[in-house]
Amino acid sequence: MSRTMLIAGNWKMNGDAGQVDAFARSLAADASAITADMLVCVPFVYIERLVAGLADAPVAVGGQNVAAEVDAGAFTGEVNGAMLADIGCRYVIVGHSERRAMYGETDSVVAAKTSAAVAVGLTPIVCVGETLEQREADQTEAVLAAQIGALFEQCDARTLAEVVIAYEPIWAIGTGRSASPEQAQDVHAFLRGQIADRDATISESVLLLYGGSVKPDNAAALFAGADVDGALIGGASLKADSFLDIARAAG
Ligand code: G3H
Repeated sequence: MSRTMLIAGNWKMNGDAGQVDAFARSLAADASAITADMLVCVPFVYIERLVAGLADAPVAVGGQNVAAEVDAGAFTGEVNGAMLADIGCRYVIVGHSERRAMYGETDSVVAAKTSAAVAVGLTPIVCVGETLEQREADQTEAVLAAQIGALFEQCDARTLAEVVIAYEPIWAIGTGRSASPEQAQDVHAFLRGQIADRDATISESVLLLYGGSVKPDNAAALFAGADVDGALIGGASLKADSFLDIARAAG
């Protein structure tokens, strides 16, 4: 099965209104020549502004987090999936390692958020990945198997068919030290195998993104991996030029 590459930006807690406007203008001018699907996930408060700026461009907009609760209610500070969809989001990042480490999101919470996103028609990008200590202790596959296993235990097949997975080795995030193309492909093949053990159809269609210090100068080599279906980009997504150059490298 052929899979369309997805190039996704994650601005994290960065940017301001002027940066959103300038970014949207650049993408609107150049995005139509790019064959990969593109997505940019900005802080909640800038989502509508980016959606408006990209109204005529083939670039999707997403959130960086979503409530585990589907229904509205007394959840101070939370934003549910229906609200994200209401203002033009098509995707949402779920279970980024920063949220797992700093905000206590467990595999179970990540699975609940994944189901909540799909329930309202959003595509969740579920992040998995190991720490440096886990990699050095040869625990990478066990960690990833547990993270994928929790998703399959708690989400139904209809949900899992909509999920995008982002492999983000924590030691490569924001460090300038990307996984090598071989390391990325090896892990992606392992992840696809884990999924195939549970559902062969989903394993063929699921997009597996790589994230962790992806830049214009290493993107093409990373994308050469047969199981690498795109990227989740942090720092290099903050500037339109580098984001577009990475998207061009996806073919
Ligand atoms: O979500 C994006 C990842 O955390 C990667 O961030 O490209 O700045 O390393 P980075």
